[in-house]
Amino acid sequence: MALDEFKGRRCLITGAASGIGCATALAAGREGATLFLTDLDDAKLDDVAASVRDYGGSVAYMRALDISAYEAVRAMAEEIHHDHGSLDVVMNIAGISTWGTVDKLEHHHWQRIVDVNLMGPIHVIECFIPPMIAAGRGGHLVNVSSAAGLFGLPWHAAYSATKFGLRGISEVLRFDLRRHGIGVSLVCPGGVDTPLVDTVENVGIDRDVAAQESLRFVRELAAAPSERRVR
Ligand SMILES: NC(=O)c1ccc[n+]([C@@H]2O[C@H](COP(=O)([O-])OP(=O)(O)OC[C@H]3O[C@@H](n4cnc5c(N)ncnc54)[C@H](O)[C@@H]3O)[C@@H](O)[C@H]2O)c1
Repeated sequence: MALDEFKGRRCLITGAASGIGCATALAAGREGATLFLTDLDDAKLDDVAASVRDYGGSVAYMRALDISAYEAVRAMAEEIHHDHGSLDVVMNIAGISTWGTVDKLEHHHWQRIVDVNLMGPIHVIECFIPPMIAAGRGGHLVNVSSAAGLFGLPWHAAYSATKFGLRGISEVLRFDLRRHGIGVSLVCPGGVDTPLVDTVENVGIDRDVAAQESLRFVRELAAAPSERRVR
């Protein structure tokens, strides 16, 4: 959906405290969306909400939670639906990154990234899309996957497992939700210069090599999170 379609729309953004989620919240707020913001990071979420309100934007709700925790997402959804009704736009942006070779990745690495990057968006879809369907006003679902959800890259097995999965869900929901007037957008960024670059968990990769590779990637290719660039 285009930015000028956000005016007056109730819009949930996960991962709103940083990077792409923060830039999206600021942009949607400027276009007149009523924002519902969530992230793990309470303090940074407060800062983003304050920035939106500083320019006269509307933040109707914010809540710090872990999207991998289904009960927490369900409680947030019940609170939002009770107080504000169903939403118009739902954006799954929160995510983490783990790089590693399969001989070094441990079970907890696989489990955590699946819990956050795949089950997190599923929890949000489960809790927010049925009420959107029931309201009968249409709407839009945005899922942020990755270029690593389109093709394989070294060290990205765990990350790609989640991002290919989110792409699969999105491609199916595009068909399933069309008859309800709900659009589905899949976003597959390449390199975006966000704090994620510094928080990538490297498992069994020489830290210097990994750091040099990611920095080279960012310096040569990455866009700023607020930049609109379509290739
Ligand atoms: N930066 C890139 O180059 C790039 C490339 C492709 C895809 N992506 C994807 O874009 C999305 C946003 O990434 P970003 O680059 O803005 O990163 P970021 O680290 O700047 O922002 C991610 C946000 O998600 C939040 N988050 C992490 N785990 C969470 C959890 N369990 N529950 C709730 N919130 C949680 C973090 O607190 C953070 O605020 C991610 O899904 C990422 O995989 C990023």
